[in-house]
Amino acid sequence: MPEKYDIVILGSGPGGYVAAIRAAQLDMKVSLVEEKSSLGGTCMNIGCIPSKALLHASELFSLMKESAQYGIISSEVKPNIKIMQDNKQKTIQTLGSGIEFLMKKNKITVYHGMGILTGSQEVTVHADKKTTLKASRILLATGGKPQEIPGIPYDGKYIVSSTEALDFTSVPKRLLVIGGGAIGLEIGSIWSRLGSKVTILEGTAEVLPGWDPQIAKQARKLLESQGITFLLNAQAKSIKREKSSIKIALANEKANALEADKVLLAVGRKPVHSFLDKNNNTLDFRFTNNGKQLEVNDDYQTNVPSIYAIGDLIPGPMLAHKASEEGIVAIERMNGIAARVNYSLIPKVVYTHPEIASVGLQESELKEKNIKYKKSEAKFSANGRALAMGNSAGRIKILADSNTDTVLGIHIIGPNASELANMAVVAMEFSASSEDLVRMVYAHPTLSEILKEASEGIEGHSIHGG
Ligand code: NAI
Repeated sequence: MPEKYDIVILGSGPGGYVAAIRAAQLDMKVSLVEEKSSLGGTCMNIGCIPSKALLHASELFSLMKESAQYGIISSEVKPNIKIMQDNKQKTIQTLGSGIEFLMKKNKITVYHGMGILTGSQEVTVHADKKTTLKASRILLATGGKPQEIPGIPYDGKYIVSSTEALDFTSVPKRLLVIGGGAIGLEIGSIWSRLGSKVTILEGTAEVLPGWDPQIAKQARKLLESQGITFLLNAQAKSIKREKSSIKIALANEKANALEADKVLLAVGRKPVHSFLDKNNNTLDFRFTNNGKQLEVNDDYQTNVPSIYAIGDLIPGPMLAHKASEEGIVAIERMNGIAARVNYSLIPKVVYTHPEIASVGLQESELKEKNIKYKKSEAKFSANGRALAMGNSAGRIKILADSNTDTVLGIHIIGPNASELANMAVVAMEFSASSEDLVRMVYAHPTLSEILKEASEGIEGHSIHGG
């Protein structure tokens, strides 16, 4: 006899598990299917969380090497990769147990195994034995996986994805990173700080395509000053593994071949469609974006009415917080709550040193939309708190509508940019004008005072701006 539920959710990442809890809170009978033995998906097991653990540890290491400038004299500072990896694993385990506890607390039935759609209201879970689950609704939240480059296959040991690069047990002497996006810059930073000679190859003219170009350029310059080498307009064409190294030929034939001990491919991610029954797929899903992503309506419903999809499976940025929000909104809309995701204000962050963050529209988008705007920048080098922390590289750029003064975009590179970005979201969610940001009283000394400073610039009376 099949098990019956109101909803079966495939995938326990930040999209799926959050949706499961919200559904249980709204009195739905919920089951969650996860292929892996641990819950939490890419973000918690092999993505956001482990990378943040290693970014933190490696940043502490570089700070300690330079601690003399803060008046802290230490004789020998060296990294211990095993302890760093163990701490990372402990963090993952703590969060994983937390999710398991939440599943029990909310009476969500968890099935471990590959969930395959065997009907529009049926999922078969393939584990040691097969289990059939029936539900009036199914929510797909199976996330994404690393994109390949034709001719450069992963081997999991020398040519690796972010998963293996976050699990290295020793520092590679030379690490070549293909792709100067969020993953390339974050993981490149980790191993560079720990002593690897890191080269990042970016196919376009600047790192972080799609970000504010000035901020992206400053990010690259700062990372260069930390010892990372960048090759721009550089595409890897082929890779040959030799006895003691890997040789990488570039598309530009005039360029010399590169050598490395490990190669990280970080050229984007793609949706996981493992829920489709390869042998007998009777569900005719409509895909968009060159057949990569599922088409959904405002209720996150696919063209198969009982099946919904969120997160990396559908258009939009492939970010954990976007997936969680979509999960909550999808479930609420199923239950008649008029919720929505504000796609125009999804913050994005790269957790390098300094951090890089962005909320809202960029100058290029404003020009495209023919919106007249005012802009102002403020530098952390004029921010007392940043100077006191010895961490004053970076700036903030604010863009506001010329007619209404409404803030339309905030782009930041600097200390704690990730937290400042959330402050920017709050302001912009409430349609703040730059004058609103000027009139607020900020605690002094704080990094967020830079928001006031830049907004004063828009109003034409910056106090500290040069
Ligand atoms: P990405 O799309 O952010 O960056 C990939 C980069 O690779 C681009 O700059 C692209 O121009 C370059 N590229 C593509 N093909 C190339 C080639 N053959 N040779 C050289 N360069 C090439 O992808 P990434 O960094 O792999 O991240 C994947 C997803 O995960 C993104 O959606 C990202 O936003 C998300 N993510 C977010 C993080 C965060 O929010 N902190 C951290 C890690 C990932």
